[in-house]
Amino acid sequence: MNRIDLPAVVDEMDEVLAFMADQEKKSLLRFLTCGSVDDGKSTLIGRLLYDTKLIFEDQLAALQNDSRKHGTNGDDIDFALLVDGLEAEREQGITIDVAYRFFATPKRKFIVADTPGHEQYTRNMATGASTADLAIVLVDARQGVLTQTRRHSFIASLLGIRHIVLAVNKIDLVDYSQDVFDRIVADYTGFAADLGFATIQPIPISARYGDNVTLKSEKLGWYDGPALLTHLETISLDETDAARPFRFPVQYVNRPNQNFRGFAGTIASGTISVGSPVVVAKSGKASRVKRIVTQDGDLEQAVEGQAVTLVLEDEVEVSRGNMLVAPDARPDVADQFAAHLVWFGEEAMIPGRPYLLRTETDQVSVTITDLKYRININSFAQEAAKHLALNEVGVCNLSTGEPIAFDPYKENRSTGSFIIIDRMTNATVGAGMIDFALRRASNVHWQALDVDRDARAAQKSQRPAVLWFTGLSGSGKSTVANLLEKHLHSLGKHTYILDGDNVRHGLNRDLGFTAEDRVENIRRVGEVTKLMADAGLIVLVSFISPFRAERRLVRELLPEGEFIEIFVDTPIEECIKRDPKGLYAKALRGEIKNFTGVDSPYERPENPEIHLKTSGRTTEELAAEVEKYLGDHGIISNFNADSWSI
Ligand code: ADX
Repeated sequence: MNRIDLPAVVDEMDEVLAFMADQEKKSLLRFLTCGSVDDGKSTLIGRLLYDTKLIFEDQLAALQNDSRKHGTNGDDIDFALLVDGLEAEREQGITIDVAYRFFATPKRKFIVADTPGHEQYTRNMATGASTADLAIVLVDARQGVLTQTRRHSFIASLLGIRHIVLAVNKIDLVDYSQDVFDRIVADYTGFAADLGFATIQPIPISARYGDNVTLKSEKLGWYDGPALLTHLETISLDETDAARPFRFPVQYVNRPNQNFRGFAGTIASGTISVGSPVVVAKSGKASRVKRIVTQDGDLEQAVEGQAVTLVLEDEVEVSRGNMLVAPDARPDVADQFAAHLVWFGEEAMIPGRPYLLRTETDQVSVTITDLKYRININSFAQEAAKHLALNEVGVCNLSTGEPIAFDPYKENRSTGSFIIIDRMTNATVGAGMIDFALRRASNVHWQALDVDRDARAAQKSQRPAVLWFTGLSGSGKSTVANLLEKHLHSLGKHTYILDGDNVRHGLNRDLGFTAEDRVENIRRVGEVTKLMADAGLIVLVSFISPFRAERRLVRELLPEGEFIEIFVDTPIEECIKRDPKGLYAKALRGEIKNFTGVDSPYERPENPEIHLKTSGRTTEELAAEVEKYLGDHGIISNFNADSWSI
């Protein structure tokens, strides 16, 4: 058995404690690396970690092993493998997620977000950049500045990064040429001049051989700037500003028992002390801080970045997503605002389509009401656009389902940013930076009316309902809706029919059949439908309405149970055979573009209230099935099967 040498253990403990105390005092630099595939980001980070001697022995052993299996450098250590932790990434040969690494030198602590450079992974770059102080923009010396370099630099500036290192990598592959370096630097600084960075430090490096990474290289004698690590250790940062207004987004309400009620979260900016006055951002209710509770006991004061639980003197209502703020410097509370948006959804962002918006703690529904322009990444020109495709950046107006509390991003990076989530897939599809609140609708209020929807419907002895017929062109939507309306009318019901072909002659005559126009078509019809249901009518709506997101948008405009989705399910072969307007024939010949079912998608309803399978059934049978549903659900009181000639 091994004897434990106690004094040695104590010595070691002392050393560890001294080391930790030392770390505490050092300043922290958060940075990220960005660039294109293959320009050596992972190799660079691996090299930094390796040369700063912070790789643990066992990690090193595993690395040597891995390098032999997957590496691209023969028996040398492949530094990229140290960073590209995921098996899947190795197989694909690209980095696919943000990896945060921590390392330290005697001068400073570092957190590095390694973000992938593949074109479709702008998302991860935006995620990694939102907390960073500095970005290392890597350029392959052989390739120079690429679109991807510009895009990432632009996003870095949008996200408020102040300092750039332009690392011209693989300088060994261009014979350590000063000419090549100078050309790339001129190219980059010319382009980045408008981006408002506080510093841009160009450094020629070879991540693979370590030139100018931690130590200056003799092979680059012509370069008189610092090595990368020296620059990272010495660059002076804009310190956090304790004078900024207090912002505390509430993560959750902590109520373990009747005697304790605290609001938990992380201070986004400013300082708070016991006794400080605060207000609830959305309601304006005021109170004072009674206690600042942490895991290690109560504090008298807490500052930006600290996770605390605040106990207030009064019983005020604050729910998750709300903010406690300084009374004399309040954030905006609004449901309409302008923002810069970076899109990284596979599917384009379409104005009018419903998404979810998430701030640090709040979540609300949102639509982009107006895409003002798209920004050309190469020229910064403002271009007219109807949608934002993958990796595009634009400026737009947004409208949320409920007001949110926020600051302009320029004033506060954490309370001024948000992400956009796709409601169908739950994927993060965009990141936004709020510019300012829009106040234009503030003098329009809901007019309370004495005669309400129930009164109007009761007078007609019916309940309002929306019968939403969706299906391919030629599936029979209008035919069934038409017959059903005739029958309901004969029963004395008050109805109205909205039909795609007809509405497109008036209200929507400016719209065509692109995805954007179809979204707008359904959004407008949804609003009209809502007004008609409000008038107490049974509204029959017959539109292809090919997209789930917009059908769901209309469903959510209406009270629960009032939207009845009717899927008129006719196989496309059957529709093509019927072809009542000869449109399929034209579409198949390529004479009509974006034709549903031919070269434009139809998303089948997943859970329609009524699934009308039309094959082999008469229009009467189909219309009677819908009317029976209305009877069964109390929308009409007198369903009578005998009144149908079937
Ligand atoms: S929707 O997709 O935006 O809901 P809507 O129901 O208003 O479409 O209009 C569909 C009708 O427009 C079809 O019944 C057809 O008569 C006509 N039409 C003309 N071009 C197209 C097209 N490219 N795709 C689908 N329908 C078209």
